[in-house]
Amino acid sequence: MNRKKSLFNRPSKSKTKSSKKAIDYPEVIDVVGLSHEGRGIAKHEGKTLFISGALPEEQVRFELDAKHRRYDEATCTEIVTSSEHRVAPYCEYYGRCGGCDLQHLDHAEQITTKQTLVTEQLRRLGKFEPSSTEEPITSQSWNYRRSCRLGVNQLTRDGSAIVGFRRKGSSKLIKIEHCPILAEPLDKILNELPAVLETSGNFKEITHAEISMGDTEGALTLRVKKRPKDALAERLNQLAEKHNCRLYFDYGQHIEAFEAEAALSYKISDTATEIAFKPGDFIQVNARVNEKMISRALSWLQLDKDDRVLDLFCGIGNFTLPIASQVNRVVGIEGVEEMVDRARINASNNKLDNCEFYKANLTHDLRAMPWYKQGFNKILLDPPRTGALEIIKQLEQHAPDMVLYVSCNPAALARDGAELISQGYKVTKFCVMDMFPHTSHVESLALFERT
Ligand SMILES: C[S@@+](CC[C@H](N)C(=O)[O-])C[C@H]1O[C@@H](n2cnc3c(N)ncnc32)[C@H](O)[C@@H]1O
Repeated sequence: MNRKKSLFNRPSKSKTKSSKKAIDYPEVIDVVGLSHEGRGIAKHEGKTLFISGALPEEQVRFELDAKHRRYDEATCTEIVTSSEHRVAPYCEYYGRCGGCDLQHLDHAEQITTKQTLVTEQLRRLGKFEPSSTEEPITSQSWNYRRSCRLGVNQLTRDGSAIVGFRRKGSSKLIKIEHCPILAEPLDKILNELPAVLETSGNFKEITHAEISMGDTEGALTLRVKKRPKDALAERLNQLAEKHNCRLYFDYGQHIEAFEAEAALSYKISDTATEIAFKPGDFIQVNARVNEKMISRALSWLQLDKDDRVLDLFCGIGNFTLPIASQVNRVVGIEGVEEMVDRARINASNNKLDNCEFYKANLTHDLRAMPWYKQGFNKILLDPPRTGALEIIKQLEQHAPDMVLYVSCNPAALARDGAELISQGYKVTKFCVMDMFPHTSHVESLALFERT
């Protein structure tokens, strides 16, 4: 027997509710699966028990946290028999910080598990199966995040600064001194920001810090209720400059550079494209996975000079511009006006004159839009977590040969994929992407081809 204490903190306040049918769980239970948010799954008397900190094929002791009608929740208190894939978490905050939930599972097994969970969801919710599952897209598993959002708080008790992420299962912040997920400059700013804030008596006007790094420069953007005093602003500026960043203040309605604008951009090496962005724009956080994802998307779409491509949810042109270099015409649609402007500038800076960008809300009926009436033979979709059902229902008229779906939510992919299948498509290629190692978030690519 291999007994270990769990590293997972139990939720601070017990949320236990009374259930109509009380179940007597055994003291030690077998874990039979992993949930999509990284909790062990056990079954007893027909009821599902989600256990934080437990892994499949383990036997664990646990304490119940909450009872519900269909399932119960618990935290693992002792690992009686350990999984061969269990590893010691690398980060000292693991189990308390809300950022990661899979550090106790070895990295290779994280990817295998994610692939199994997504394909199961497609089968169960979408009632479809990809004809071919390709190699997952992976990268280094630490220091991969080139952008992050940190919470900032000043304790009333002693005026000290809390800079960090939300605690597991709570809206309160946990002070983090180092985060091994962050790229090095971001981690250094996270580490040094509290001391800079504490030099000022009061910094309650600062609520968040966002850091995003381009290939050469970055931006430290502080979300503020009002502009900080000059002395604090100066010290924050020095911190930003020390780590090759420019300082910005985000007032909610607008973002302002403290001194000069940062030259924020990243290159996509395979296509010799350079994409510029501004603080507040959406960028893919994992640079290496992003490059591999674009390269795979372009190859799966089998682009050629006659293609007319529609890139929906295009952001600042992350897929649109690499696609433009290989096709006749590409139209990018995005809901945020500033990002549409940036995409147009990016096209012009990359000397690509075969792309057009338009602002539109892709949950609306867009069939009267002039851009919609152009013919497209290939479509790329990269929606937010809510998915793309509304626009997919409007695509039937174009009858594109291929739809490439980039998904950050397997449940939305299952639902939207089922709609595409009802329109006469099948999933010919599928892969998962390890965009967020050590977390349970999973991204995937699914190619739908007209049958
Ligand atoms: C997952 S991001 C992808 C962006 C881009 N494809 C990339 O790779 O960087 C989703 C994008 O969809 C945009 N978006 C979200 N909801 C939208 C909507 N209802 N209509 C249009 N665009 C939307 C967001 O602003 C964001 O840029």
